[in-house]
Amino acid sequence: MRFPQSRVPDPAGAPALRWGILAPGGIAATFVTALRAHTRQQVVAVGSRSPDRAAAFAARHEIGRWYGSYTELVDDPAVQAVYVASPTGQHHEHTLLALAAGKHVLVEKSFALDAGQAREMATAARTAGLVLVEAMWTRFLPHVDVVDQLVRDGVLGSVETVLADHGQLLTPEAAPRLHRPDLGGGALLDLGVYPVAFADLVLGAPDRVTAVGGYADSGVDAQLSAVLRTGAAHAVVTTTLTARTPTTAAVCGTAGRVEIAADFYTPATLTLTTAAGRVDRPLDPIRGHDGLCFPAAHVAQLVADGRADSPVLPLATSVRMMETMDEIRRQLALD
Ligand SMILES: NC(=O)c1ccc[n+]([C@@H]2O[C@H](COP(=O)([O-])OP(=O)(O)OC[C@H]3O[C@@H](n4cnc5c(N)ncnc54)[C@H](OP(=O)(O)O)[C@@H]3O)[C@@H](O)[C@H]2O)c1
Repeated sequence: MRFPQSRVPDPAGAPALRWGILAPGGIAATFVTALRAHTRQQVVAVGSRSPDRAAAFAARHEIGRWYGSYTELVDDPAVQAVYVASPTGQHHEHTLLALAAGKHVLVEKSFALDAGQAREMATAARTAGLVLVEAMWTRFLPHVDVVDQLVRDGVLGSVETVLADHGQLLTPEAAPRLHRPDLGGGALLDLGVYPVAFADLVLGAPDRVTAVGGYADSGVDAQLSAVLRTGAAHAVVTTTLTARTPTTAAVCGTAGRVEIAADFYTPATLTLTTAAGRVDRPLDPIRGHDGLCFPAAHVAQLVADGRADSPVLPLATSVRMMETMDEIRRQLALD
């Protein structure tokens, strides 16, 4: 019994694209570091709402051009693709800004605040013939491709149960952005999007969603659990801002089970258990948040190949995941 080989291409093999960084916050710094370490991608410019923050980020990361507005960044003719790393509440506005300037876009998760925004973003990209991909990086990681193959090749038999969890203790003091509803805070859009995306990868669209949850004083969803049913299969997804949970995932079928160790949404180890025994898959060489290089390399390859939509994470899937999360939040409002 062996794991299949990952089909994810080496990110260093993707042709170079000239990137502009929109919003120089925490994840933007991680993204630039990952690109520099593992790809041929070029980070040529950064844009901030503040000239000082743009200049400081440019100096820290040795980026040649910096702008004190997002409009100037997207209008820079040297920039071919924009990495939208603003808070989730701004993804719709900033993605449309970059697309209108004729730039390809990789936008951080969650894709948008809701499915209505997501549809508008997808339509704008299709109309412009530009690449737009959600940086739901888990989907682009080698170990997740291996899980996908185990499911599609029937190694696990009929999939009955998917479990996926992501909880962290993130107080308003430690993580103010996550306690701002207008910025797209809350457990679901920031953390729960990973379990929802994993369930979607394995089972596709749910035909029934059953969710319970509660709110923090700030008004964002603080903890929720949902069962996403697709046919006879159940995905159980849990997320919270109020405790550090195991952050693992598992796909369980009639012929076997694959478990993804913590943190399942980052490069992680796998354990496959079938009637033939148990086998472990070690970590891939690109570890931790360096895995952010995979979606960037994917976008660069799409552009080079003249393909607008991603076969790994099509726009229709990003929209569908927003629909699932809309329904979860609709049910929470009824609690
Ligand atoms: N893939 C991952 O593992 C991962 C990890 C963390 C976060 N994320 C995602 O990345 C996005 C950014 O998260 P982050 O942790 O990097 O956030 P952050 O550190 O707070 O940075 C966000 C940046 O957005 C800009 N911004 C624009 N409008 C803003 C507003 N109204 N309020 C506050 N900031 C605003 C700010 O830059 P300027 O004002 O200088 O322009 C700020 O530095 C989120 O969508 C989040 O879900 C992904």
